[in-house]
Amino acid sequence: MKKTERLVIRRFPARPTMEGAGVRLKRVLGYPERELIDPFLLFDHFGSKDPEDYVAGFPWHPHRGIETVTYMLEGRTEHGDSLGNRGVIGPGDVQWMTAGGGIIHQEMPLVSPGGLRGFQLWVNLPKSAKMMDPRYRDVQSCDIPVAETPEARVRVVAGSYAGLRGPVRDVVVEPLYLDVTLGDGGRFELDTPQGHTFLAYLFEGRAFFGSAPAEMEAEIGLLFGDGGAFTARAGDGGARFILFGGRPLGEPIAWRGPIVMNTREELDQAFRELRDGTFIR
Ligand code: CO
Repeated sequence: MKKTERLVIRRFPARPTMEGAGVRLKRVLGYPERELIDPFLLFDHFGSKDPEDYVAGFPWHPHRGIETVTYMLEGRTEHGDSLGNRGVIGPGDVQWMTAGGGIIHQEMPLVSPGGLRGFQLWVNLPKSAKMMDPRYRDVQSCDIPVAETPEARVRVVAGSYAGLRGPVRDVVVEPLYLDVTLGDGGRFELDTPQGHTFLAYLFEGRAFFGSAPAEMEAEIGLLFGDGGAFTARAGDGGARFILFGGRPLGEPIAWRGPIVMNTREELDQAFRELRDGTFIR
């Protein structure tokens, strides 16, 4: 039986946003999309050659109830957190963090000649894991496996593709996260589990998704309908996109700023703990 193909059902043009202490970035997915993109919460594209757009960075701030995956393409970001982790991630590296019951961290981009370019994805935690112990990991570019065909180059950040397993393994909802680069007219195919949410962010070039005749142009986020097969074909000049997917949690979302819980009471408690200085366990 032929598998049903996943078709684009929503488009999300990247919208300019100011975050942190004054970082100009493009928000692709966020609060208004939360119900549609379950188990994901947010997808930001940061990218600028002008240090003024990013040096202010993201000084010390808390998180609870989520996991974040930060994927750098250009530039370097220095980080530190309340667990005592310190480090710098550079081009091609991934930083992955479970806020769980509470973490306080900062992310400060360093001025780089090539500018700053990368993505941050927020992945929701299931109710049962909201208050788990926080954890953190850096993954170096050289540890991200690459599947190469004449038409496609696929970096496997999380989940499995073509027999390769990505190094980001402990995100609770076990998402797939691929960085797909296609040459001129290049094709990419993937079997996808029915019922899982699948999204892409096209950030370079042009591409067609599924058999739909509409050519998509960077920079755009795409939500796909359910199905067993994902296909993409680059337009002239090639294309590059992030593809991510995961099983929806189907749980209530209570979200205020950097904290995402299931109920209003849990949010109030988190902010009370922040005021009282008891947020970090
Ligand atoms: Co943060």
